[in-house]
Amino acid sequence: MFWCAFVVLFLALGNELHLSHTTEVSVNSTENKLCLYANLMVNFSVTYEVGVNKSETVLFVLPENVTTEGSTCKNTTSTLKLGFGDWHSWVVEFTKDNKTYQVDSIVFTYNLNDSSVFTNSTSNETKSVTTKPRITNVGVDTYYSCKSENVQRVESVTQTLYDVTLQAFVTNGSKSDTDTVCAADLTSTTVAPTTTVTTTAAPTSTPTLPTPTTGNYSIAPDFNSTACLMATFGLRIGFKQGDKVETINLVPSATNVSGACGVNSSNLTLTSDTIKIMFTFSNDSKKFHLHALNVTVKPATGAAVVAVNTNMSIWAAAVGSSYMCNKEQTLTVTDTLTLYTFKLRVQPFGVEKGEFATAHECSLDDTSILIPVIVGAALACLILIVVIAYVIGRRKTYVGYQTL
Ligand SMILES: *[C@@H]1O[C@H](CO)[C@@H](O)[C@H](O)[C@H]1NC(C)=O
Ligand SMILES: *[C@@H]1O[C@H](CO)[C@@H](O)[C@H](O)[C@H]1NC(C)=O
Ligand SMILES: *[C@@H]1O[C@H](CO)[C@@H](O)[C@H](O)[C@H]1NC(C)=O
Ligand SMILES: *[C@@H]1O[C@H](CO)[C@@H](O)[C@H](O)[C@H]1NC(C)=O
Ligand SMILES: *[C@@H]1O[C@H](CO)[C@@H](O)[C@H](O)[C@H]1NC(C)=O
Ligand SMILES: *[C@@H]1O[C@H](CO)[C@@H](O)[C@H](O)[C@H]1NC(C)=O
Ligand SMILES: *[C@@H]1O[C@H](CO)[C@@H](O)[C@H](O)[C@H]1NC(C)=O
Ligand SMILES: *[C@@H]1O[C@H](CO)[C@@H](O)[C@H](O)[C@H]1NC(C)=O
Ligand SMILES: *[C@@H]1O[C@H](CO)[C@@H](O)[C@H](O)[C@H]1NC(C)=O
Ligand SMILES: *[C@@H]1O[C@H](CO)[C@@H](O)[C@H](O)[C@H]1NC(C)=O
Ligand SMILES: *[C@@H]1O[C@H](CO)[C@@H](O)[C@H](O)[C@H]1NC(C)=O
Ligand SMILES: *[C@@H]1O[C@H](CO)[C@@H](O)[C@H](O)[C@H]1NC(C)=O
Repeated sequence: MFWCAFVVLFLALGNELHLSHTTEVSVNSTENKLCLYANLMVNFSVTYEVGVNKSETVLFVLPENVTTEGSTCKNTTSTLKLGFGDWHSWVVEFTKDNKTYQVDSIVFTYNLNDSSVFTNSTSNETKSVTTKPRITNVGVDTYYSCKSENVQRVESVTQTLYDVTLQAFVTNGSKSDTDTVCAADLTSTTVAPTTTVTTTAAPTSTPTLPTPTTGNYSIAPDFNSTACLMATFGLRIGFKQGDKVETINLVPSATNVSGACGVNSSNLTLTSDTIKIMFTFSNDSKKFHLHALNVTVKPATGAAVVAVNTNMSIWAAAVGSSYMCNKEQTLTVTDTLTLYTFKLRVQPFGVEKGEFATAHECSLDDTSILIPVIVGAALACLILIVVIAYVIGRRKTYVGYQTL
């Protein structure tokens, strides 16, 4: 019973927290099919005049309840227009080219005549500010995902976007389940928010390439020992050559494995004719994560592409466990090179008996599993409570008749 109450409470709280903050909207095309989707949070800070040389700063959030009138979806351009309160609006313009789409601008319009927000404003005008957040190179048919804060400051307005999920140019009327994660979510150090303006995956994979074969890689400290590092995944690399985006799969059977296990860091290097990639994992004694990537691709024609990122903080899990992600993951290494992993499982430290330890699953995997599990558990609880109540009720009436 206690467990039940806990689950129910957790559900209630979860819903409360979720619903009270995010703004979720869908826009349908003229054929009444979903064509634009957004679920995000925006905080605004606006400084306005309240007297001669006197100003006030007001903070407010994009409300949950917004209108989408004026939003449009066209072949290569789309507009998301969110109206709220007393004639305030937040308008996002998208454009698309062959394989990617981007946000061109965000125009925030606020009405200083709304005295419920801008108390004592000397002006009753409507003002607008335009920003250009770096939400670019989002793969067509993927959604843009960025939990990190993206801070935009223009004139007297500061907008903070966070927990953003966005998909424009939705095809077939249903949201994609593949994401393009912003670079800020992939790197560890979140320095001053202003400098971590988000960038996204540069190249996107060509759909013509088959899913890469899953390879099994392991490193042992010496010939006699069992593995100290294990990894299994399929790997695709997308890289820019001039304006063109090329993709290439790593072929496990033609790949040489090397590396070393250390106390604080472990390395895995995979080398094929065309690809050399080194993964560096670090261990802070409690948790491990992928810390650095050094990728060299030698295409059939053209110069080699080298991408190094020593500031990553992904694939994190407790030391002694493994990290797992069955869904395709997109990792932006640099502006010119992106990795796509498939059916991933890694354990860079503390492997015992040559077997993976229990897995920490990526959020992509577990949200899809967790929600039905929670809902199921809550339903089971409800049924249990009803049955118990019924049994107790029955017993009482039964006992009552007996004594008479
Ligand atoms: C959008 O279209 C879906 C069906 O494709 C429909 O269920 C939904 O009600 C529509 N939404 C609006 C706001 O018209
Ligand atoms: C946004 O505003 C809300 C309410 O004022 C606050 O709780 C939250 O921490 C803010 N978030 C960010 C990222 O500034
Ligand atoms: C307002 O500020 C300006 C310059 O900052 C100053 O010259 C002016 O005297 C100030 N006016 C008042 C009424 O304080
Ligand atoms: C949302 O806004 C509409 C119109 O502005 C209003 O009729 C409706 O009651 C609001 N809903 C909630 C839940 O605030
Ligand atoms: C938009 O795309 C549809 C189908 O892909 C095509 O029939 C139509 O001509 C396009 N419209 C414009 C303005 O490009
Ligand atoms: C891709 O875009 C370029 C211009 O940006 C255009 O010339 C080319 O035809 C497009 N390719 C396809 C397959 O649409
Ligand atoms: C400002 O709001 C008041 C009511 O609050 C309204 O009467 C007035 O017309 C508005 N002025 C402008 C310029 O919108
Ligand atoms: C607005 O002005 C009135 C009178 O000048 C003052 O009492 C009140 O505190 C002001 N409100 C704000 C939010 O500044
Ligand atoms: C508000 O706007 C009207 C004209 O739209 C103007 O006549 C009035 O003086 C303004 N009020 C304030 C307080 O600025
Ligand atoms: C370890 O390796 C050595 C030779 O490298 C071999 O003689 C020995 O039997 C091995 N020990 C085990 C337990 O396999
Ligand atoms: C892994 O590689 C890095 C960079 O090349 C190096 O500093 C580190 O010592 C290596 N770790 C091990 C355990 O060899
Ligand atoms: C990346 O790897 C290449 C060759 O594998 C090496 O020459 C280069 O020094 C490495 N870069 C870093 C920053 O470790």
